[in-house]
Amino acid sequence: MPKTLIEPFRIKSIEPIRMTTRAQREELLAAARLNVFKLRAEDVLIDWLTDSGTGAMSSRQWGAIMEGDESYAGARSFYRLEKVLQELPGRQPFGPTPRGRAAEKVLFSATGKAGDLGPNNCHFDPTRGNLESMGVQAVDCVVAEGLQPATIAPFKGNIDLEKAEALLRQEGARIPFGMLTVTNNTGGGQPVSMANIRACAALLKKYGKPFIMDVCRFSENAMFIKMREPGYENTPIKDIVKEMFSYADGATMSAKKDGMVNIGGFIVLRSDEWLDAVRSGLIMMEGFPTYGGMAGRDLEALAVGLEEGMDEDYLRYRLRTAEYLGEKLDAAGVGFVKPTGGHAVYIDAKTVLPDMPVAHYPAWALCNALYLEGGIRGVEIGSVMFGKRLDDGVETFHSMELVRLAFPRRMYTQSHFDYAAEVIAEVKEKAASIRGVRITKQPKFLRHFTCECEWV
Ligand SMILES: Cc1ncc(COP(=O)(O)O)c(C=O)c1O
Repeated sequence: MPKTLIEPFRIKSIEPIRMTTRAQREELLAAARLNVFKLRAEDVLIDWLTDSGTGAMSSRQWGAIMEGDESYAGARSFYRLEKVLQELPGRQPFGPTPRGRAAEKVLFSATGKAGDLGPNNCHFDPTRGNLESMGVQAVDCVVAEGLQPATIAPFKGNIDLEKAEALLRQEGARIPFGMLTVTNNTGGGQPVSMANIRACAALLKKYGKPFIMDVCRFSENAMFIKMREPGYENTPIKDIVKEMFSYADGATMSAKKDGMVNIGGFIVLRSDEWLDAVRSGLIMMEGFPTYGGMAGRDLEALAVGLEEGMDEDYLRYRLRTAEYLGEKLDAAGVGFVKPTGGHAVYIDAKTVLPDMPVAHYPAWALCNALYLEGGIRGVEIGSVMFGKRLDDGVETFHSMELVRLAFPRRMYTQSHFDYAAEVIAEVKEKAASIRGVRITKQPKFLRHFTCECEWV
C-alpha cells in the first residue's frame, strides 16, 4: 500500500488565492492595527482562523441546494433532514436553528435560570457566554490531562467524572442538566471516549439530570473512537455515532462543523419534558420549527453534508491532516497541544517565543508573525482572548499562550500544509526579531475581535 494518504476528493471548482508580498502584508497588518481579525480575507493566503462554516461543499450538496423547499411550514427539505437525523439520534423531534449558539440559546432559555450551574467538559466560549448572560455559572470539568498541552493521552476531552459527581452531590439542586462537548474545541479539539460518554450519561441519570451533548464535531469524535478505543476498531462510523447519540437526552449542534455546511444548526430532544418550551422559544427567537431560521436550501445541503461527514475515507484524511502538520512542527522544534486534535493544531507560542514576557502577548505576536512571514491567519487563544484589563488598569493573563490553526473542511491540500510548516519553522528561526504588542484600544468584552494594538 502506498504510504501517502491522498485527499479523497477531486477539485471541481476553485477560488484563487491572491498572492501578497511581505512588504504588502506589513502595510495591511499595520492598517488592521495588528489584529488579524481586521484583515480582509482576500489579503490572507491561508485562512486558518476557524473551521466553522468555512469549508468547501461537495457537488452533491450544491445539487441538493437546487431542491430546497422554502415553504414556511412543513417544507420538504425539513423532512429530508429529519430522516437523516432520526437515523442518528433515533429520536425526535428536532428543530433547525441558524447556528449552534442559537440552538443553545433556545435550549438554555427553556431549561435554565439565574443561579443555576452548568457542568460540561469545557464550554465553548459563546456557549459559556450564553449561560452566563442568563446568570447560570458554567463549570468546566475536563480531566486534568486536558489542560496539559504536552501530555499525550488518547481522550483528553473526557469529563472528570469525580469532579462532576462532587458537583452533582453538593449542588444538584442548582443543576438543570449536564453537558459534554464532542470534540472538546476549547481543549484543543480533543476527543471524548465512548466509555466516558456512557459513564457521564449514567452519572447524570443517577442524579436524575438530563444529558445534553454539544455535537458540533461528532463524526471527528467517532473516528477518534474507532482509531483509539479498544473494541471499536471494526465498528462502522455510523454505528459509533448512533451509540454516542443513544446515551444523550438531547443535543445541540453547530452544523458549520461536521455538518459540512456554511451555515446552520439544530437542536434535538429525546423527551417531551422541555418540548413545548423549546418549540415556543424556537418560534419566538428563530422561526417556525420546520425551518427555524434556516433556508430550505441550507437544510438540503445539511442533509447531504451530515452523511458525507461520516465517510471514513474523508475522516481518516481529515484527522491525518492535523497529525501531518504536527509531525512537521515536531521536526522544527515547535511545541503544540498533543496529540493533534480533529479540526486544528494549537501551537504553544511559549515554545517559539520563550523569552517574550506574557505582557507582550506572545501568542498574539506569533499570530502576527505568521501573517507577516507567509500570509497565514490563525487565532490567538491566550492573554488577549482570555486576559482582562481591570478597571484599575491592571492586567490578568491566561495560563496558556496558544495559536490555533483551524482547518476548513476539504479546502486546503497537502502543499498548503507543507507551505505552512515551512513558514512556521522560518518564524521560529527568526524568533529573536519578533516583536510583541501593546493594546491601545479595547472594548469591555471579547476584546480579541476588535482591539487595536501597536508594536512594543
Ligand atoms: C463546541 C462548539 N459549540 C458551539 C459552537 C457555536 O456554533 P456557531 O458558531 O454555529 O454558533 C461552536 C463554534 O465554533 C463550537 O466549536
